[in-house]
Amino acid sequence: MGRLLALELLTAAFLLAAVADAELRYGYYDSLGCAGVEDRVRTLVRRSFLTDATSSAAMLRLAFHDCQVGPGGCDGSIMMEGDGGEMDAGSNFGVKRLDIINSVKSDMEDMCPLTVSCADIIAMAGRDAVAYNGGPEIQIPLGRKDADFSSATEAEAKLPPATSNVDRVLNVFAPFGMSIAESVAILGAHTLGVGHCKNIQDRLQLNSPTAPNSVVYRTQLRAACAVNVFDIAILNNDASQFTFDNQYFQDIQNGRGLFTVDDQLSTDPRTAPIVTLYASNQGAFFSAFQSAYVKLTSRAMTGNQGSVRSTCTL
Ligand code: HEM
Repeated sequence: MGRLLALELLTAAFLLAAVADAELRYGYYDSLGCAGVEDRVRTLVRRSFLTDATSSAAMLRLAFHDCQVGPGGCDGSIMMEGDGGEMDAGSNFGVKRLDIINSVKSDMEDMCPLTVSCADIIAMAGRDAVAYNGGPEIQIPLGRKDADFSSATEAEAKLPPATSNVDRVLNVFAPFGMSIAESVAILGAHTLGVGHCKNIQDRLQLNSPTAPNSVVYRTQLRAACAVNVFDIAILNNDASQFTFDNQYFQDIQNGRGLFTVDDQLSTDPRTAPIVTLYASNQGAFFSAFQSAYVKLTSRAMTGNQGSVRSTCTL
């Protein structure tokens, strides 16, 4: 009887250890004897941000697109090259500067071989993009593992199109455990970066049901997109595309949302009061964005699931 109890206790302790090991953890790489990973990643990505002002917004969008698709959520699957991979999906149009992640990864392999996952590097780069542009300093737990599979078909099915409405977007964020206030805050990521004219074609027609709420803004967008050779014309997501601030919420309150969902957030009864709060209180936006970003990047494979790939593209 005594031996049976001891065995049961041992098994329970074993299971507990496995569960603890299988969770994302703050200070994860320090605990593996690889100190300084987060500082080194921050230094390297900031160096890229300094040489290409558009790259920080690209890293933040990359983090969302990695976490939204793939067998393990945030699993580096967007980085895998090859026919039919996620980057072949039309919804990943405009996703760029994956080379930044590859170059950080190669540095990490010198520092701590086969230890730092591509998935963690992406989540850190998105986080560092926010702080670099004046947004909150977010602490995220680490220990994500990489997938060995990447599918354009899955990306097409799971990434919300530019034409998404509020219902679709809330359905995207609910599985991450986000409240409506956090879902509105995470869309505040559109305080950075740009969109392409091809993604707002439906909003430019005079009688379009999804036309921008501001007539002046629609006229400006039509003019800006009148010459759009090779899909290269771009438009600011908000009036201060290089600053992480609450300008986005002030813009959408004024009917100047670039995408359909941006405009709808300010009129839908579920989200309008939250937009009003964030437009007048940047601290409230930052605080909700921090918890939303932790949730966005916490759907991951850990412990014995997945692996740490030596090269993000393979
Ligand atoms: C769920 C609803 C969302 C929709 C429908 C949406 C849609 C889009 C579209 C259509 C673009 C422009 C792409 C282009 O034309 O180049 C864009 C850009 C961007 N998105 Fe989103 N997005 C969503 C959520 C998010 C989230 C959750 C984040 C980050 C946490 C994010 C971050 C960004 C950033 C930073 C850009 C600018 C990228 C750049 O300038 O390179 N988006 N988004």
